[in-house]
Amino acid sequence: MSEALRDAWGRSITYLRISLTDRCDFRCVYCMGEEMRFLPRRELLSYEEIVTVVRSLVAVGLRKVRLTGGEPLLRRDIVDLVRALAALPGLHELALTTNGSHLAELARPLWEAGLHSINISLDSLQPERFHALTRTGRLADVQAGIFAAAALPFQRRRLNAVILRGRNDDEIVDLAEFAQAQGFDMAYIEEMPLGQIAEHDRALQQVASDTVLARLEQAWGPLQPLHWSSGGPARYFQRPGSAHRIGLISPHSHNFCDACNRVRLTAEGRLLLCLGQEDALDLRQVLRSEGEAAILPALRLALQRKPAGHGFNLEQPVQLQRYMNMTGG
Ligand code: 5AD
Ligand code: SF4
Repeated sequence: MSEALRDAWGRSITYLRISLTDRCDFRCVYCMGEEMRFLPRRELLSYEEIVTVVRSLVAVGLRKVRLTGGEPLLRRDIVDLVRALAALPGLHELALTTNGSHLAELARPLWEAGLHSINISLDSLQPERFHALTRTGRLADVQAGIFAAAALPFQRRRLNAVILRGRNDDEIVDLAEFAQAQGFDMAYIEEMPLGQIAEHDRALQQVASDTVLARLEQAWGPLQPLHWSSGGPARYFQRPGSAHRIGLISPHSHNFCDACNRVRLTAEGRLLLCLGQEDALDLRQVLRSEGEAAILPALRLALQRKPAGHGFNLEQPVQLQRYMNMTGG
């Protein structure tokens, strides 16, 4: 194997998150504005281009790929893409993050195509509240998707919730109990300031991970910190006597940038060096004008600019124009 991918801070890059589309059938209040303009289809990387990028990176040490969006299950070629990526030797983990709305039909085909693990976003177990948080979503559809995924032997399954004060912070324990009953891990995410949203004040609605942990411990007794990592930013805890894991993703309260091992590919083929910064490499341009052989040299050069950290700061007005659906949640 030729030399592994490293940035200027000595961090090796083993994890790529790919946004397959910026489109979504939901409009989650923390993720999008109500009126969104989406990319024309021709702007998106094709399925062949995505496979080409991943194949090049696997040759220099990429081990994990997560497919995200927008909502990745809105891509019609998703099952074929999963099959092609799963067949690449050297890729150890192929994961998906979805809102679950189309999972009831797609869970089995995705599993059969070789998907290893699945994360489903779920912010509330109350139908009206779920609808208010997603603006368009139906809880019953997502629950059907969760049950379909629960019935298949995925290597790992997790539910993700973004916790907002006064909106769903009273469901912290309920969500974990539901996840555990369905055989899912449960992760809580601190909201990140990506894109301008008019809906709420992010600084006021922030619920720190320590608060989440305290609520769970109030209900269950002390949780054990685990040394285990899923290769992402979550810190994991365990309820004694159970195999069920609780993950905390804390961009604000426990910065995870030191251990960053990842870059992101947007739906239109921009390779983002950091979640919290605009700087990107136009990989689509590299690929379409110079071909596959140009990918690695361009990427190695760009990695020298990968910043030390995201620099999120809720005290300042919006820092990033890019929404999470562009970024690849
Ligand atoms: N901050 C934190 N998490 C977010 N997500 C979307 N937007 C944000 C944000 N601004 C989460 C979704 C989902 C994942 C894809 O990203 O809830 O779990
Ligand atoms: Fe869609 Fe996910 Fe954004 Fe919600 S968080 S609007 S499900 S992309």
